[in-house]
Amino acid sequence: MRITIVLGARPQIVKSSLFIHLASKDKRIILQIVHTGQHYDYEMTKVFFEGLDLPEPNSNLGVGSGTHAQQTAKMMLMLEEMWKKQRPDVVLVPGDTNSTLAGALTAAKLTIPVAHMEAGARSYDMEMPEEINRRLTDHCSAQLFTPTNNCTRNLLREGIPKKTICEAGDTMYDVLLQQLPKAERTTILGDLDLKAKKYALLTTHRPENVDAPLKLRNIVEAMVEMAPLKIVFPVHPRTQKMLETIKLFDRIAKQKHIKIIKPTGYHETLKLIQNASVVVTDSGGMQKEAFWLKTPCVTIRKNTEWTETIELGVNTLVGNDVQEIVRTTKKMIEEGDRIIEKIAKTRNPFGDGRASRRILEALKKLQK
Ligand code: UD1
Repeated sequence: MRITIVLGARPQIVKSSLFIHLASKDKRIILQIVHTGQHYDYEMTKVFFEGLDLPEPNSNLGVGSGTHAQQTAKMMLMLEEMWKKQRPDVVLVPGDTNSTLAGALTAAKLTIPVAHMEAGARSYDMEMPEEINRRLTDHCSAQLFTPTNNCTRNLLREGIPKKTICEAGDTMYDVLLQQLPKAERTTILGDLDLKAKKYALLTTHRPENVDAPLKLRNIVEAMVEMAPLKIVFPVHPRTQKMLETIKLFDRIAKQKHIKIIKPTGYHETLKLIQNASVVVTDSGGMQKEAFWLKTPCVTIRKNTEWTETIELGVNTLVGNDVQEIVRTTKKMIEEGDRIIEKIAKTRNPFGDGRASRRILEALKKLQK
């Protein structure tokens, strides 16, 4: 059975890594890994392939950056050429990036069955490019693998047939469980001179925060106000460019309590999350990782697709007001012990760590 997986952006590499290992070992599967080239800097892609011991992709489309239409269209043209020559039995698309949508649309139009890993997540905010990608991908998929029961219910409400949904669990959780010992062995805390539970971890890369100079400025000012608490800030390239454009980069670099670093690899990121007193982020994946690693999270967004973590009170949404960010971050740090206890007592809504295995087994059955 020929399975092609399409990925290209940082989080997709993480969420499909265990599946890739399992499928590569399975004698009945011919796995093709297509990297779209959406991410291309060493820190955004190769460091994840190396850290997670993944095989080189079979092809890299090298599309690079561009507008959404340019990026998606370039990917689609190349994928169509490729699949007209050699047709996979199924195309697996993880997550919600432009690479996800391009893979799904191209395969569906060629009547190749599409399987979506991490189906059913909804923020109900169509201003987020990821929400568009998720919804369209789900509605052209033949097989939908949901990470939580909430995601399954979202799909059923949208009229997706029950028989096409498999509640597999979250593959990011599988990968975290498998990789945590390696993450714990990294030396990043010592390298950055950090002490456990004595710093905050900040990441921001969503266009709604980063491409709006006022909002980005407010996030930065809130972090400046958090002094003397140490803050580690791995900077996404999109964020770095904007900080330089609006001349804010030097203001942060001057702050003694803020450490700006390059985007970190997977294991270093887990270790930084696990030992932080709070994570302040707009990333989707890090909200879940903070929950699994029992670290309070402040999400700088109006909404989230991971409502499970909000309902449990271990993650809080915050608007863009400087004082609101400062107040909420301090409150989440103060409540750290209660949050840790609460998470320890909570059933993990994201499955049992066997999602990648379930997905592989379900895909094999598609061919029978
Ligand atoms: C993409 C995904 C987002 C995911 C994120 C993880 C979409 C719509 N968004 O957002 O869901 O959370 O990846 O990082 O698919 N750039 C570089 N080097 C790189 C990659 C990007 O410099 O290797 C810069 C370029 O200026 C580029 C910008 O970052 O224009 C944005 O990259 P892009 O792939 O369009 O989106 P992300 O913001 O990374």
